[in-house]
Amino acid sequence: MRVGLAAGLSLVLWFLLPVSAQMTMTGSAAEGRRLFHAPTLGTNGLSCAHCHADFDEERQDDGLIRAGHSLYNAAARETWWGKDPKRPNAYRQIASAAVVCLEHYQRSATRLSAQQTMDLQAYLEAITRRPERAPLSVFPAGDLSGAYEGHGDGNRLDGQPLFMAACHACHPNGGAGIGPAIPRDRDPAFYARKVREGDGLGAVLTGIDPDAYDPAAGLFMPFFGADRLSQRQLRDIIAYIRSLPPLPADTAAKKSGRRGTPKSPPSRPRPR
Ligand code: HEC
Ligand code: HEC
Repeated sequence: MRVGLAAGLSLVLWFLLPVSAQMTMTGSAAEGRRLFHAPTLGTNGLSCAHCHADFDEERQDDGLIRAGHSLYNAAARETWWGKDPKRPNAYRQIASAAVVCLEHYQRSATRLSAQQTMDLQAYLEAITRRPERAPLSVFPAGDLSGAYEGHGDGNRLDGQPLFMAACHACHPNGGAGIGPAIPRDRDPAFYARKVREGDGLGAVLTGIDPDAYDPAAGLFMPFFGADRLSQRQLRDIIAYIRSLPPLPADTAAKKSGRRGTPKSPPSRPRPR
């Protein structure tokens, strides 16, 4: 019923708008869908779809494990980014909350145009069939002690499909892609920290260190919260990574190189 009321209200507001504004103020859900899947929206090859499903993940498991939650049914939340509902919302609507991701994770150099924002908004509304009002619960799972102990006894065979589902999109077969090649010879704690804290945002949200995320550092690995990747799944993934053959020397040397700004020219085409 609330939906009907809101729709009725927006219709009323619509008629109150000057005609000139009405002509420019429509978003295209089809165009928004294209933007959602476009790796060209940002500068590092990531699209929204790398980190968010646009369907009901519980009913329609496609086998992928994404760092962010599905945006299905999400367009009518009271607040975004898990902010306190009693405090003023920093974002007017879902598309403005999404711009955080575009700038932070997709390293977009330019802002979305007003038209693109409306298109994205129209698409996120189109995939909202049963509006959820409650703010999203995020479960960051950084280790407050910083030690990340107990990640050493995973099963590499179980870890292989989990790696493919959660990490392969950015670290193809453990090599360099959108993200750098992953070293094989580090302690389990090294991997656990990276997955739980990502580019630092996971550490901020867990309360480990409010300054852990430095926007100027140019990092963009998303953290995986406890409801995205369980402790056991993480252990298995770590066992799998540590069982991989060592990196070829040339890839190891480039492991900190950013996509698009390789430290030396790649010797063979980069995997995509
Ligand atoms: C590299 C991964 C990544 C990319 C790319 C990304 N996001 Fe996100 N986004 C996240 C994470 C992690 C969160 C934190 C909340 C969560 O776990 O869903 C988030 C949060 C959000 C939220 C707030 C959700 C809420 O209910 O509070 C919205 C909306 C959103 N993203 C939309 C988008 C859109 C649209 C795009 C593309 C323009 C995008 N994101 C790109 C990872 C990403
Ligand atoms: C959306 C893209 C993306 C996904 C998905 C992703 N990573 Fe990353 N990863 C990155 C980027 C980018 C970096 C470089 C550092 C940064 O930006 O934070 C990185 C860095 C790392 C590093 C540190 C490498 C080094 O030499 O310091 C490790 C370890 C790692 N990722 C493991 C994983 C694992 C394990 C998964 C799956 C659970 C995963 N990543 C999923 C993008 C991603």
